[in-house]
Amino acid sequence: MNRTFTILTALATAIIPIRAIAQDRDFRVGLITPPVHVWNQEVEAMGETLSETSDGRMSVTAFPSGQLGSERTMLQQLQTGALDMAWLTTAGITVRVPDMSALHAPFLVDNIEDAAKVLRSSEAREILDALPKATGTVGLCYAMTGMRQLLTKDPVASAQDLDGKRFRITPAPPIQTFFEMFGAAPAPMPLTQVYDALANGQIDAIDMDHESIINFGYHDHAKYMMETNHQIFGMVALISGRVWAQLSDEDKEIVQAAAQKHCDQTIDRFVAEEQGKLEKLKGVEGLTMTENVGAEFFGDIVERWDAEWSQKTPYVERLRALVASF
Ligand code: BEZ
Repeated sequence: MNRTFTILTALATAIIPIRAIAQDRDFRVGLITPPVHVWNQEVEAMGETLSETSDGRMSVTAFPSGQLGSERTMLQQLQTGALDMAWLTTAGITVRVPDMSALHAPFLVDNIEDAAKVLRSSEAREILDALPKATGTVGLCYAMTGMRQLLTKDPVASAQDLDGKRFRITPAPPIQTFFEMFGAAPAPMPLTQVYDALANGQIDAIDMDHESIINFGYHDHAKYMMETNHQIFGMVALISGRVWAQLSDEDKEIVQAAAQKHCDQTIDRFVAEEQGKLEKLKGVEGLTMTENVGAEFFGDIVERWDAEWSQKTPYVERLRALVASF
């Protein structure tokens, strides 16, 4: 009896710390955005939610501003398990998952409320199913950084004025197609390089959202803004497939629920704050704003873009049909 008790006690002492270590987790989360960005605030908040719902076992350490490298680099780190999680642009995934390009269809929606509906749709969610095989990650949920606008150094009166302009774009094939189709010279570069590239004249214009224009103050060097709302700019919360596989079913549920909560809060904040950000930008001294620039400004670009990208993914037609049903 005594011997059995001693053996069991020894086993328990050996096993308990191992279980505790295995279940305690600090998730390293990479972002390209700076600490002021809504995504970063929600990642911090997700850390608090995780701590509460896991009884203190889980936490988050955020690596903002591309500290760990570009989105492409972070995707590789997620694949190897060197990074646990990342909140990346949907644009950054399009090279590996062409279906994700449909979310970047020009003028897919007329307003940010419909953008939120698209990102919450079962069609969009289905696209995440391709992530484990294509990227070695699991897509937990979508959010966004609002709608995209154009900011130029020179005044723009017609689409011809955009011809040959060196436009910084987020590196992504569907975005590149859009800019090439209206005759611009797209210059793909990570967010972290945009301010300097505008300041030193390496580029003439940028494709950007209200939140980032305000956060970085791009209007210091590009004084003309066209409110085009030409594209949804989505975010996808990713967890490394290797890390995911190590979690128990119960912990997977905790992580999924926390991510979903903060994706939803991010979407809701962008919907609620988009107009206020536009008003703020309209008040920036020296920034000339042209409001309500619609798809017609770009001629038949929607038809041409759809014709090309419908060949690459069925989701272009599916998302257009979805939006038509709203
Ligand atoms: C961009 O590449 O333009 C971008 C990336 C993340 C958030 C906002 C903008």
